Amino acid sequence: MEGSREQVTGIDDLPVRDELRGKSPYGAPQLDVPVRLNTNENPYPLPEALVERITERVREAARGLNRYPDRDAVELRIGLANYLTKTGGYRVGVENVWAANGSNEVIQQLLQTFGGPGRSAIGFEPSYSMHALIARGTGTGWISGPRNEDFSIDLPAAERWIAENKPDVVFVTTPNNPTGNAVPPGTVLALYEAAQAAKPSMVIVDEAYIEFSHGDSLLPLLEGRPNLVVSRTMSKAFGAAGLRLGYLAAHPAVVDAVQLVRLPYHLSAVTQATALAALEHTDTLLGYVEQLKGERDRLVRELRALGCEVVESDANFVQFGRFADSHTAWQAILDRGVLVRDNGIPGWLRVSAGTPEENDAFLDAVRELMKEQST
Ligand SMILES: Cc1ncc(COP(=O)(O)O)c(C=O)c1O
Repeated sequence: MEGSREQVTGIDDLPVRDELRGKSPYGAPQLDVPVRLNTNENPYPLPEALVERITERVREAARGLNRYPDRDAVELRIGLANYLTKTGGYRVGVENVWAANGSNEVIQQLLQTFGGPGRSAIGFEPSYSMHALIARGTGTGWISGPRNEDFSIDLPAAERWIAENKPDVVFVTTPNNPTGNAVPPGTVLALYEAAQAAKPSMVIVDEAYIEFSHGDSLLPLLEGRPNLVVSRTMSKAFGAAGLRLGYLAAHPAVVDAVQLVRLPYHLSAVTQATALAALEHTDTLLGYVEQLKGERDRLVRELRALGCEVVESDANFVQFGRFADSHTAWQAILDRGVLVRDNGIPGWLRVSAGTPEENDAFLDAVRELMKEQST
């Protein structure tokens, strides 16, 4: 036994699935630097009144932890449905909503339900890298679809790709990560039509950042479109990335379908209690979103004034460039105590909107970098 264990030096010595060999896990660096603007988190800690409310609700939940939690998370789903109805311009009921541990788990459940071995999903890249990684983890084939130079979706090419490849799942991220641009509703409708004509397939609209957008949610598009899903998260606008709470809105049949793959009792009673407390403080949290939108717009303006190219942003982050070598630029900004994100897109970096002080530190770092580069 000892001997055989010693012969294993890494993943590739284990009988892992072929498609996982030689691959890297998701890994945004978690470095200990003064200003961390690399994972699109909300920079504002939860307000003390909400921390108190979470404590009360979790204390109450703790008294029942000898029992499994509500498997269907009904109270929480009602709260989420009310939030979507109030803010999304479309009436959503509990039967339309499903919740899981982060929207990553929502996406995983959707791919377990509608993807899987022998099936494929398409996403328009660059986009949120976890779509492709979760596809791989669920044995779903991945197709990297086309974008234009300005990072908008190349619609005629996308329609062609969908018609030719007949994917089972189509991902549309709006606002898109890492580029920040929103996808016009007309483009989503055209992609939906193309996907229905080709297969029909499910279209997942990932609205993780929608609360930061200048435009509206695409929730109203759910009307009469049973193969459309809108996925959301409390990680960004609610400032609760540590909570791990994502959710979707869709036709009730989609909610029934994901029950086939979800683990029983997947959402802990502590998670449900915490999320319900956060929903009680929606107005305060959305106030922070307004401040962040102002800071995001300031970043766009000031980066342009410094001579950077910037993609128009509807999210809580900004993609900026262009650098001859983006990794060197990333390192130069890091050397000044500010961590931004290098997503591997040649020439570009991404910065999350932080507090005004953090953004000032970031802008100072870029100012110095631009000065250095021009001399
Ligand atoms: C587009 C997009 N979707 C989903 C997620 C995942 O969010 P969650 O924290 O809810 O798993 C992220 C996180 O960065 C994201 O950028």
